[in-house]
Amino acid sequence: MKAIRIHETGGLEKLVYEEISIPKPGPGQALVKIQAAGLNFIDIYFRTGLYKTALPFTPGNEAAGIVESVGPDVTEVKPGDRVAYAGVMGSYAQYSLVDAGQLVKLPDGISFQKAAAAMLQGMTAHYLTHSTYPLKAGETVLLHAAAGGVGLLLTQMARNIGATVIGTVSTEEKAELARNAGAHHVILYSQSDFEQEVKRITAGAGVDVVYDSVARATFDRSLNCLKRRGMMVLFGQSSGPVPPLDPNILNPRGSLYLTRPSMGHYTATREELLWRAGDVLKWIAAGSLKIRIHHVYPLSKAAQAQEALESRKTAGKVLLETM
Ligand SMILES: NC(=O)c1ccc[n+]([C@@H]2O[C@H](COP(=O)([O-])OP(=O)(O)OC[C@H]3O[C@@H](n4cnc5c(N)ncnc54)[C@H](OP(=O)(O)O)[C@@H]3O)[C@@H](O)[C@H]2O)c1
Repeated sequence: MKAIRIHETGGLEKLVYEEISIPKPGPGQALVKIQAAGLNFIDIYFRTGLYKTALPFTPGNEAAGIVESVGPDVTEVKPGDRVAYAGVMGSYAQYSLVDAGQLVKLPDGISFQKAAAAMLQGMTAHYLTHSTYPLKAGETVLLHAAAGGVGLLLTQMARNIGATVIGTVSTEEKAELARNAGAHHVILYSQSDFEQEVKRITAGAGVDVVYDSVARATFDRSLNCLKRRGMMVLFGQSSGPVPPLDPNILNPRGSLYLTRPSMGHYTATREELLWRAGDVLKWIAAGSLKIRIHHVYPLSKAAQAQEALESRKTAGKVLLETM
């Protein structure tokens, strides 16, 4: 089969398109014939070495496809099932081994592309709004990169809950997409100071929660946007990591809360995984959650796809077509 392999971490040239053998499922595993793989910013952290894993490896953390075969003791799926998954490395390939407990069966009417686009970013937006900070109608939220993969889904979920959504984006085209997704206020943080804008929009009150995945470029000013006892949810680092900080900075700004969550800790049980994936897929089928696919690249062009994502040229989801 064809796969992208990383033998050493570094630049885009480290994504090598290779022929490797199709693995065999062991106990509890399923072999998935991948139809579409989703790109996520975490793929870039692994490629550059910011996040560590054993070398060589096949990157990619999300896909949808068909169960080709299963190993012993698999009860969750059977050959022929249409499935999707997130948070398991190795999806930049035509086949991948996945623990069957990580697989979610797809309802009829959800395409492989939509499913591959929805799993990781959709479940992330779900846990952020339903568990990390359970957002309520009438509250106000600031979220950065509102036209990104997570951003467009987070905007829609926050809006559907009944919160007032303030989103930041870098360009006018992205602003239009964020507004269409339901953002009440959109700030071009590339052109104006988002802290001042948030204070103006909220008449000095600040927001209940900030969902910040941009990190280095936004973190400190995001803290200044919070209400007293508001919550800072730092869930990514697209502009680079936040430098080490003294927890005392949370006190003078109003006894703030700070958390640094990741999806794996919010989908750790099968019950929680099926709850979040089930909600996301149900909302897509019902039309209350829209998936925007920015572009689909062939597997062999994974480097081009990552280049687009890391250089802020994308809005919504980037996919790889593997067959
Ligand atoms: N913790 C978790 O569980 C979890 C799960 C999924 C994703 N994440 C995080 O969520 C973030 C979004 O992920 P995604 O896959 O949906 O990506 P994305 O939002 O589609 O792409 C990243 C966006 O970040 C913005 N950005 C700001 N400064 C940037 C910079 N210096 N370089 C690159 N981008 C910059 C850009 O939007 P503008 O052009 O509008 O600024 C860019 O489009 C990432 O930080 C990712 O690590 C975390």
